[in-house]
Amino acid sequence: MKDKIAIKTHEVVHVLKEEQGAYTLRPESGAFRDTILHGDAGVALEAIPDKHVQCIVTSPPYYCQRDYQADGQLGQEQSPEQYISKLVHIFGECRRVLQDNGTLWLNLGDKYSDGRLLGMPWRVALALVADGWILRSDVIWQKPNAMPSSVKTRPTTDHEYIFMFSKGADYYYDADAIREPHVTFSENSKMKGGRNHFGKANGTPEEGKNAGNSNLHRGRWDQAFHPLGRNKRTVWSIPLSKYRDAHFAVFPEKLVETCLLAGSPAESLILDPFSGSGTTLLVASRLNRHFLGIDCNLEYCKMALDRLTKNQIDLFSSSQKVSLRKIAG
Ligand SMILES: C[S@@+](CC[C@H](N)C(=O)[O-])C[C@H]1O[C@@H](n2cnc3c(N)ncnc32)[C@H](O)[C@@H]1O
Repeated sequence: MKDKIAIKTHEVVHVLKEEQGAYTLRPESGAFRDTILHGDAGVALEAIPDKHVQCIVTSPPYYCQRDYQADGQLGQEQSPEQYISKLVHIFGECRRVLQDNGTLWLNLGDKYSDGRLLGMPWRVALALVADGWILRSDVIWQKPNAMPSSVKTRPTTDHEYIFMFSKGADYYYDADAIREPHVTFSENSKMKGGRNHFGKANGTPEEGKNAGNSNLHRGRWDQAFHPLGRNKRTVWSIPLSKYRDAHFAVFPEKLVETCLLAGSPAESLILDPFSGSGTTLLVASRLNRHFLGIDCNLEYCKMALDRLTKNQIDLFSSSQKVSLRKIAG
């Protein structure tokens, strides 16, 4: 038995399963697993049952940035208000299909119009809050290889936003999965010998010059300094990546990986309603999650399928990290 990704119709692109030489659609229950839907996200989402996905990682078209040459495409609206209102509608549908403990990780960049910064990411974020989402974090995605610009009247922009939203009060968040190295006791630290304090009650410097500072932890450095690293910070420095077949900005895999590791357990279903070249789907597959992509441009759906197919071949011919059954659903 062998798995293959193929396009079934011009409307819906499915992962097909090859069994004894014949391709069969996966069972009805798995119809929205490991699948790419071709169409307008606002419409395609309506077909998905309530509370179906665990985590959403996505980057919609930015306002007036690029023509994606497809019916129903977003981003070409006459005014920021129309753009925001369409996004609120689509992300309302996303909230419906999200499990109660699920999260949405939304990447947005800003835009200048006549030299004025529109503040679009925050306008969208606040509109989503007004619509019922709970905003949990605003992450700055800093791009060390951002395009230089000739602008002389303001700093060159080298960041975008990732907003982390939850649907409800309790939500899945695995802080340990995305910890980062401690700085205080690293090789570069000026606090030489700090590690000697580990495990010793009351053996900390704040007993000295910092005594009485209530911002400092009590007594034991080993409790303050988690063995797996410090809690993830809100500025992520990740280079822009290129996918040679795409004419638009694709997600860096590292960025998606961070969101997925924190926002979803293994085997859960990940949605990207603007899946483009399929980076979210690819990373989900590599991390042993299931994926569901939507895009209004059929060429991009095919591009994503191509990437996923190659990934599956790599996985099967190497260490078989993802079992045949998991990918097949
Ligand atoms: C910024 S790109 C996403 C890139 C993606 N994160 C990647 O890594 O390749 C935005 C995508 O949204 C798609 N799109 C635009 N309007 C859409 C709509 N109304 N419904 C579904 N997809 C849409 C575009 O075709 C494009 O592929």
